[in-house]
Amino acid sequence: MFSVQRYVLYLALAACALFTISYFRTDFLSSRYNAHISAGQLGSKPQHLAVNPGGGPFQWRTVLTNYPAKSLTPLPTAKPLKLPKVQHEFLPETQEHASKRKERQAAVRSTFERSWKAYRQHAWMHDELAPISGSTKDGFGGWAASLVDNLDNLWIMGFKTEFESALSAAMSIDLGSATIDSVNVFETTIRHLGGFLSAYDLSEDERCLHKAIEFGDMLYKAFDTPNRMPVTRWRLQDAMTSRSIADNVVLVAELGSFTMEFTRLSMLTGDPKWYDAVDRITRLFAEQQSRTHLPGMWPVVVDARTPDLTKDTWFTLGAMADSVYEYFPKMQGLLGGVEAVYRKLYEGSMAAAIKHTLYRPMVPDEADILIAGGARAQASTGPVLDARGEHLVCFAGGMFALGGKIFDMPEHVEIGRKLTDGCIWSYRALPLGVMPEVFQMIPCEDRASCKWNETMWREEVSKHQPMGMPFDRYIKEHARLPKGFAQISDPRYILRPEAIESVFILYRITGEQKYQDAAWDMFTAIIKSSETKLANAALADITYTQEQLDRDNVNIKMDSMESFWMAETLKYFYLIFSDSSVVSLDEWVFNTEAHPFRRNVAL
Ligand SMILES: *[C@@H]1O[C@H](CO)[C@@H](O)[C@H](O)[C@H]1NC(C)=O
Repeated sequence: MFSVQRYVLYLALAACALFTISYFRTDFLSSRYNAHISAGQLGSKPQHLAVNPGGGPFQWRTVLTNYPAKSLTPLPTAKPLKLPKVQHEFLPETQEHASKRKERQAAVRSTFERSWKAYRQHAWMHDELAPISGSTKDGFGGWAASLVDNLDNLWIMGFKTEFESALSAAMSIDLGSATIDSVNVFETTIRHLGGFLSAYDLSEDERCLHKAIEFGDMLYKAFDTPNRMPVTRWRLQDAMTSRSIADNVVLVAELGSFTMEFTRLSMLTGDPKWYDAVDRITRLFAEQQSRTHLPGMWPVVVDARTPDLTKDTWFTLGAMADSVYEYFPKMQGLLGGVEAVYRKLYEGSMAAAIKHTLYRPMVPDEADILIAGGARAQASTGPVLDARGEHLVCFAGGMFALGGKIFDMPEHVEIGRKLTDGCIWSYRALPLGVMPEVFQMIPCEDRASCKWNETMWREEVSKHQPMGMPFDRYIKEHARLPKGFAQISDPRYILRPEAIESVFILYRITGEQKYQDAAWDMFTAIIKSSETKLANAALADITYTQEQLDRDNVNIKMDSMESFWMAETLKYFYLIFSDSSVVSLDEWVFNTEAHPFRRNVAL
């Protein structure tokens, strides 16, 4: 989910203050990088360029390898274990429940159809549609990101004719040219490779697998370095013509989140090279897990060149780290439990995360919820909690709940529940019913009990407010802060999926109706604020009330609709209102872009 540049990032001080990380905006990226390169123009060594005998798209497997792997670790061959059941035993539903559920499902499906048609009409084969102007964006290479990201959705929601037409269009995507000169290897893996793999697992149409291999071959080339660690911001042009080495400043999510996609590709093709590539990274994480400043977790900024994952001091399950952790329980599910290292990685990292990065916030209704923050860990002070919250870290509720099931750790299901309830609480706390991108809360000393203290809240808010503004005026006119929030440092909602993702997983795991109802509230709130003439738009500031927006004629809609709006957000909304057998979590596991892969299950 996670990703990095998709999340408009802020300038964060990386740990030991050695590095400053840029939070990029995708729209910034797409407007800045517009160089167009093509295979024919690349470099001076035409013998390195692909010559595809049959014509057709450029094949990266024909480009020379500079540092071939000396030996390949094969996929584990053991029979899958019988893992604990993930989904709740759903009883046959009542007529009343079924009709309400189907009504809600139909509403989601028609929202998807509307967005998809707008994409088809105005942005076909581009990465994204701009939902207000109707123009296009190509920040992910110009390889039709929204189209590839939604093949599985078209299949799941039963748009079979559209699936067929989108898939045949996708066949013409050519990886010998790109609209950007630096490719984010992580984003391309989760969206494009993940999209084709999932479309293949669902439809069994061979063309999906061919295209997955084509992308897989290109991405594999990013691992062509002396230590076989990937170049995460990868320049196609350089890769064609010169040797590369891995970077020494890398975001941990961009190094550690290839496991599911690469493993699935090896499972489907029988070619171990992709599994080998990620297995090397997994071993590295395991080797260095207990040597970091917060043993169990790895810092957000790591060095892939040495490689060294131990130096930096900022730790979080949130932005720029997220899917590293998310993939541990998911790899257990995907492989059927035959590789023991994923339990070790999960248990070690979650123990540290629970102790040092999760907190119970002080809120006026004293709700028993958890929020995932971060920790600064220095030898001199020990780990210090940063009581932040982010929309994107809402995936953590689903991760803990799934991990708790798959690894048989019931206490993790409870943590997952409290984290998910924290996201639902945050949606409900804001006047438009939508949660902000980044905020601060006030951590309680004690997770067991937490009394609301208005004086303390006012004091915390005042710490964050500009000098001299009277408290009431600051709250009302400037910050528009609901009680419980100390600060909302980024008030956007960019059509993100992570809250509904966890609500969906908690529903499938617990069977509790309250999660479907919370999902419906979230869906209606998002639609009400984000709908445009064409589709749906990211929101610039969700702290206003509807009355303020109407009265002052404030426009909060931004001309942006990332591919994850349809591919993830609407997929999870659709699935929570589908029959529980549709994409069952006992047969499928979702990558971080919400693409379901078929699990290796014991017969
Ligand atoms: C509430 O917070 C204030 C300020 O931190 C503190 O002085 C006071 O003792 C607290 N009240 C209670 C009942 O804990």
